[in-house]
Amino acid sequence: MMLADIQKKIVQLTDELHTYNYEYYVLANSVVSDYEFDLKLKELEALENQYPQFKDPNSPTQRVGGDITQKFNTVAHKWPMLSLGNTYNEQELRDFDERVRKIIGDDVQYVCELKFDGLSISLTYEHGKLIQAVTRGDGVQGDEVTENVKTIRNVPHQLKVGNYPDLFEIRGEIFMHHAAFKRLNTERELAGEQTYANPRNFASGTIKLQDPKEVAKRPLDCYLYFLYADNRRQLFASHWESLKAVENWGFHVSEHSKLCHNVQELLDFVHYWDTARHQLSYDIDGIVIKVNDYAQQEELGFTAKSPRWAISYKFKAEQAETQLIGVSYQVGRTGAVTPVANLAAVSLAGTTVRRASLHNANEIERLGLHENDYVFVEKGGEIIPKVIAVNTEKRLPTAVPIIYPTVCPECHTPLIREEGEAVHYCPNDEGCKPQIVGKLQHFIGRKMMDIQGLGNETIETFFNLGLLRSFSDLYRLHEQKEQLETIERFGEKSIKNMLEGLELSKSKPFEKVLFALGIRHVGETIAKKLAVHFKNIEAMSAASIEEMSNVPDIGERIAQSVYDYLRDPHHIAEIARLKAAGLQFETLVNETTPAGNSLAGKTFVISGVFADISREELAELVVAHGGKMVTSISSKLSYLIAGDKMGPSKLAKAEKLQIPIISDQDILNMIN
Ligand code: IVH
Repeated sequence: MMLADIQKKIVQLTDELHTYNYEYYVLANSVVSDYEFDLKLKELEALENQYPQFKDPNSPTQRVGGDITQKFNTVAHKWPMLSLGNTYNEQELRDFDERVRKIIGDDVQYVCELKFDGLSISLTYEHGKLIQAVTRGDGVQGDEVTENVKTIRNVPHQLKVGNYPDLFEIRGEIFMHHAAFKRLNTERELAGEQTYANPRNFASGTIKLQDPKEVAKRPLDCYLYFLYADNRRQLFASHWESLKAVENWGFHVSEHSKLCHNVQELLDFVHYWDTARHQLSYDIDGIVIKVNDYAQQEELGFTAKSPRWAISYKFKAEQAETQLIGVSYQVGRTGAVTPVANLAAVSLAGTTVRRASLHNANEIERLGLHENDYVFVEKGGEIIPKVIAVNTEKRLPTAVPIIYPTVCPECHTPLIREEGEAVHYCPNDEGCKPQIVGKLQHFIGRKMMDIQGLGNETIETFFNLGLLRSFSDLYRLHEQKEQLETIERFGEKSIKNMLEGLELSKSKPFEKVLFALGIRHVGETIAKKLAVHFKNIEAMSAASIEEMSNVPDIGERIAQSVYDYLRDPHHIAEIARLKAAGLQFETLVNETTPAGNSLAGKTFVISGVFADISREELAELVVAHGGKMVTSISSKLSYLIAGDKMGPSKLAKAEKLQIPIISDQDILNMIN
């Protein structure tokens, strides 16, 4: 290579690695596998050593990747949070052991630990009380996320009386179990919110949330694996001793750590977990090996960015090679088009893989994908495997490149791609079937209008019969009873249940209606914030983009999307129809009435009319205080709220089942 080419290569690798670092540490996105990242880092390191004149003083080889997010207090670490050198095979581990023994002699023991795939955290305790939790950040300083970390159940807030130092730091890893990851991601998907690619991203996205209450809803776990204190050496002679002690102090310490006496034991541990890891309920991405003795650790010391007394062994993400059969393009309810690779079946990490994610057009371009290509698929922590590379050697010279479509695969409308966005959208939200059906299915969902007696399949059937095109059509279904009765497997009872469910949904609070509309970028939390702030649709429609962006947590992208939505004549007309049908477009419970949980676990039916309050307002009060509205009287019902002019049959049924019958005033008393 010419010198100029070498310089160019160094610049290119430097830029690339900076980007990956930023994506990983700041945006919690993995754009390359750890393996690829480390290969590039090693390549850069080698070039820099050979040609130091081209080395950037801020090279990624000089610092631990990372950046600080702006929203939290930045705190400097008393002891920097270093990263570890990586090894990928037996030989590299043997080399590590040899380097160690060269310096400290043959009398060495190692502690082998699982390498939890989460985000590292540093906890400070003073007189046994948790006073601070800080993320790793760039290794030198991190974000103070104490309140968020306090929501993690197995992080002790106050230690029992014990022999711990007055002031110490303990480090560990925060992560999410597979089961919680799957459950929460499914919920997000149903709610039309962005899903997380893997448990690690979910955990790190959660710790960086502004609202600890939101954090508390997402179960996280934390293993502690490292103690720091000024007087540590007076207390313990080794890492192993300290692990045993911190466990007694009340910390969650992994039961899988092992004290190894020679390199063979260490290799056995690594090999065992390479397969056994699939049985764990959380992700690990390798093994961490630490020299046990503190005096020996000190003797070994540090390199610029990692300790010489520890190393990590990274498992290879499981990969398989298979042939691409074709690419299909799925249109979601928001119009986002997602490419999916259809593959010849191949077995990978215990499952048969036939499809893999291709993310977006950029990814197809990055891969340089051609028809019938042989591709490598990888299953890391992710549930959906992804195509990571093409085996170009097996490509036929006549192969045709995969070209991203320019029109919607469903309705043939030209696709659009907004500036700065990777995703293509079909703009035809009024006439593109998967968008309409998807939006209607979203609308009736449990966390939105929660329409009982109506399911996703029925929505599709109604659409195919031409009965449904918009949300407001749902509230006109009662006019179509005759046609509904002709639908197979849709009897009188189902129709009645569905119509009652629709009627009941009219009392759903404004924030749910707002969420149900399916405005791009408006998920459950954002809808709530908008509803609380603006209180009604008129005020929201009148707000400028700037006014909207001033609402806490509403960024410009969301503001723009809401603003555009509320100015579209079709949407304006539809909102007017929904309003006329009786849906809630204003917040009824005023903000000074603190909503509570006094009715949690109770179910209610409202019947009749009330002098001082409408049925909708009453229902909203019930829901705002944790109660649940249901349609029919059954033995499981907690209360019937009865007004005037109530039907005699309902009353009789409630009496027969001995359901307590209460008034609107009783509800107010219960709440207060
Ligand atoms: S010890 C100086 N032990 O891996 C040594 N780290 O690349 C500090 N990790 O940032 C780390 N499990 O986030 C250690 N049992 C374990 C670990 C572990 C996961 C993470 C940690 C650290 C990274 C090192």
